[in-house]
Amino acid sequence: MDLAVDAARLLSRLEELGRIGATGDGGCARLALTDEDREGRDLVVTWMRDLGLDVQVDAIGNVVAVREGREAGPPVMCGSHVDTVATGGIYDGNLGVLAGLEVLETLASAGVLPRRPMAVAFFTDEEGARFAPDMLGSLVYAGGMGVEEAYDLVGIDGARLGDELARIGYLGSLPCPGLVPHAYVELHIEQGPVLEANGEVIGAVTGVQGISWQEVRFGGQFNHAGTTPMAYRHDAGFAAAQAAVAARALARDLGPPQVATVGKLDLRPGLVNVVAGASALTIDLRNTDGDMLAEAERRMAAEIDRISGDEGVTVERRQLARFDPVEFDERIVGLVEETARAHGHRVRRLPSGAGHDAQMLARRCPAGMVFVPSAGGISHNPAEFTSPEHLEAGANVLLHVLHRLAEEDVLS
Ligand code: GLV
Ligand code: MN
Ligand code: MN
Repeated sequence: MDLAVDAARLLSRLEELGRIGATGDGGCARLALTDEDREGRDLVVTWMRDLGLDVQVDAIGNVVAVREGREAGPPVMCGSHVDTVATGGIYDGNLGVLAGLEVLETLASAGVLPRRPMAVAFFTDEEGARFAPDMLGSLVYAGGMGVEEAYDLVGIDGARLGDELARIGYLGSLPCPGLVPHAYVELHIEQGPVLEANGEVIGAVTGVQGISWQEVRFGGQFNHAGTTPMAYRHDAGFAAAQAAVAARALARDLGPPQVATVGKLDLRPGLVNVVAGASALTIDLRNTDGDMLAEAERRMAAEIDRISGDEGVTVERRQLARFDPVEFDERIVGLVEETARAHGHRVRRLPSGAGHDAQMLARRCPAGMVFVPSAGGISHNPAEFTSPEHLEAGANVLLHVLHRLAEEDVLS
């Protein structure tokens, strides 16, 4: 079948959605459950309703839009997220949702009604940048966290998640965990450099690396920067700086694929002439190997103990997110690879460095992902870019993978 998406329509929707929360430098900021997130959600829901889909909101604010099939039963689902980090681009997450919508519209306009129902979803708070953990909505959808526990999460701005969900009008009635799809496939930008560097157009994603996020707080003594001899200090700022250096050294010593990031660092009181009496930093550790990730966590914990002991500061730790590595369903990985080849694209199997909703759906049903290249490997940055040709290629691979899953018994 030579069905193909309308790439211009997909691109114009991506650009329209990207104007909501636009940061003026090509990027957008729609942190989860903010007014900007609501506006983005509302626009996508309007498009879903315009297509005549059955749109439902669940108890954690995930939105699932279903198109009936020739037969009843669990839908073949696709989707992603429409929240962004504060320095987000217009593609991360949004592509998966709008390409899913585009797939459903393409089938509808061609008068194709597959055997199974098809659904496109967007999941709440995938980024975890305001409310940790990341992939929160899909985690709750998959039954990995209860809704009450999720409602009580407190954001970086002190807001309670349940209150914010109600405030923006997305506290829905559909229960969680949600319905178990027949299969789930998510199109996403790679957000890394591998496909572009190798001249490949499509990634058949084999899985997602394990993620460990923690917040570490050091408590020292505020004191005068001029009068306090170095030996008298209990400097929480110095402890935080050492922890950041230790995280970097840890990744260097363990070697690839270990990565380590300190993305947030606060010093109190944050004044030029006061020794910091309190500090807080986040540490993001990731590895495709679960044992290596656990080893990285152990080494990091030991370093933090050593640093706090040496500097005479207290330490408190809070786990913000912890997910083991995930492997996607081999039949879906193979189907993505085969479909991409059949469309004449160079394709590579690769693991995902970023977290994705698909890793949570994989707990409930066969799941997989399609990647398209990210120019320069740049993401979580307004300069994030994927060429229109690559967007089109990815959306067409998604179309044909979903159509096969909706029509055939690929998974039996
Ligand atoms: C979230 O999606 C992440 O990978 O940080
Ligand atoms: Mn994403
Ligand atoms: Mn992201």
